[in-house]
Amino acid sequence: MNKIIISPSILSADFANLEKEIQAVKEAGAEWIHIDVMDGHFVPNITIGVPVVKSLRKVTDLVLDTHLMIENPERYIEPFAKAGADILTFHYEACKDSDHVNEIISKIKHFGIKAGLSIKPKTAPEEIFEFLDRLDLLLVMTVEPGFGGQEFMHDCAMKIPLIKEKVQNDIIIQVDGGINNLTAKICKSLGANSLVAGSYIYGNNDYKKAIESLK
Ligand code: DX5
Ligand code: ZN
Repeated sequence: MNKIIISPSILSADFANLEKEIQAVKEAGAEWIHIDVMDGHFVPNITIGVPVVKSLRKVTDLVLDTHLMIENPERYIEPFAKAGADILTFHYEACKDSDHVNEIISKIKHFGIKAGLSIKPKTAPEEIFEFLDRLDLLLVMTVEPGFGGQEFMHDCAMKIPLIKEKVQNDIIIQVDGGINNLTAKICKSLGANSLVAGSYIYGNNDYKKAIESLK
């Protein structure tokens, strides 16, 4: 069976106790932590930035899976890479054209970390096929980015097999938005190998049980 990487989104964690919240999901079996960076422009919400990633790097060895929902992502690659992000995933919709996407991928790789590209619900998978062989991760959003706790959009999950069919390398296909024990099953059966979950994990009293139910 393929290994499924679970990436708990700290967007739904207790921000006053982030170190504890991260330690708790680590003890519950998580290997990654999903960090949602929002700028109030690309999405209508503001969350956290470089200083928080830098502080988290000091207190955890979990993979810092950093999801940039921001405009002008090229400006922030270096600061986030230097802050200790292990994966930087930016949005296709934040880019002007293919050259722009390729430049950002190169910039991320220059820092020796993993490069991810994300697509919003209305973006067709065909638009990103040309980048697949340069990417380490492709993130399919199954909600409109901006907030935790939204409902899973089934149509978006149907992009997974179309992307998988085009993949030549061992790219990670990650899904983010509305993941719970039921939608996780759908995504896995369609070929996803990483699942982000915020409200489902952090909203559960038993993190271990929640994480296990997604695997
Ligand atoms: C939404 C974020 C997600 C969010 C997921 O824009 O990218 O990572 O935290 O939250 P849930 O799992 O509650 O849908
Ligand atoms: Zn996210």
